Amino acid sequence: MDKEVILTGLRSNSEFHLGNYLGAISPMVNLQKKHAGKYQLNMFVPDLHSFTTPVEHGKLYEQTHQNLKIFVAAGLEIDQPDTFIYRQSFIPAHSEMAWILGCFTGFGEMSRMTEFKDKAQTVGAAHITLGLFNYPILMASDILLYGAKWVPVGEDQRQHVEFARDIAIRMNRKFGDIFVVPEDNKKQMAFAGRSQPVRIRSLRNPDRKMSKSIGDPAGTIMLSDNPDEAANKVISATTDSVGVINLDFDKQPGVSNLLQILAHLSNKPQTEINGRFVGKLSYSQLKEEVADAVKNFLADLQTKLLTIDDHKLMRKLAVDEEAMRQVASATLLNVQKVVGLRPA
Ligand code: TYM
Repeated sequence: MDKEVILTGLRSNSEFHLGNYLGAISPMVNLQKKHAGKYQLNMFVPDLHSFTTPVEHGKLYEQTHQNLKIFVAAGLEIDQPDTFIYRQSFIPAHSEMAWILGCFTGFGEMSRMTEFKDKAQTVGAAHITLGLFNYPILMASDILLYGAKWVPVGEDQRQHVEFARDIAIRMNRKFGDIFVVPEDNKKQMAFAGRSQPVRIRSLRNPDRKMSKSIGDPAGTIMLSDNPDEAANKVISATTDSVGVINLDFDKQPGVSNLLQILAHLSNKPQTEINGRFVGKLSYSQLKEEVADAVKNFLADLQTKLLTIDDHKLMRKLAVDEEAMRQVASATLLNVQKVVGLRPA
């Protein structure tokens, strides 16, 4: 029997930040460690998605390459035979499948996507493109082309994974079992070993998520930040006037965010971190500990980044892109047959 597929993608519109790392990169690396040999793992760069929000196009190609290196520095073992890395635009079936799926997607369905509504507000009217509007369809193709059941993503992308599941079910009802249906949100959480989806907040505006498409340098920890400067961002993080530490994202989003970051970076259960801090230690003690954790994490990652063997990475990329082109083309051909574009 084919192995079940775990798949995730990270745009290369800019460098990665701590939210990307904790929401998607580290869960994927942990899943690889846990399930080596038992599952297939696809970790790719959806480069076509990268300009759903404005980018510097002259830098995109190199940024994609740089971001692939981060996967490896973060601990992704590219020697594992069941692990595949690739760039979306190098596999044309993604775009073709997106067109077909788009013809089975309602306008209203896309209009309800909260991420679209959020981003549309932040990028401003002049930059609300059709690409931003319908990218969940391209994302569904990314998932369905490889029969992925498991899709670890941060909280902001959960609704899109649910859409991939909905469209797979819809197409299967109409055309027979053409797609593997991704698991529902609850099972995805359990599989990733989480009780709730990860949403890392801005250090400055903790009501908002940490994001690279919003100009918020003081609130965002980029993985390339100087470790000392990043630690200072934590020390200056916005908290509140309650004066007592609690994990309560509604009433105390700033301190809750710091508790959350500490639990993830130290790989400890949230309850253990809460047990040490909640109602006991001061805001400054919490900030200092988080600042140290962030500083050590960045220093370690940046040191590893310097040791990446670029030639090996590029060889792996070429081999995997060829292998994935075959898988994606086979799925696409099946779909082309059932919709009447190719002989059955
Ligand atoms: P993107 O590139 O915006 O983000 C990449 C991953 O990082 C997670 N993330 C966060 N997690 C926690 N807290 C945050 N503040 C935070 N910010 C970002 C995202 O949830 C995501 O997991 N459309 C997707 C990329 C994509 C994809 C796919 C993902 C394209 N095709 C197929 C999975 C499967 C996106 O724009 O993510």
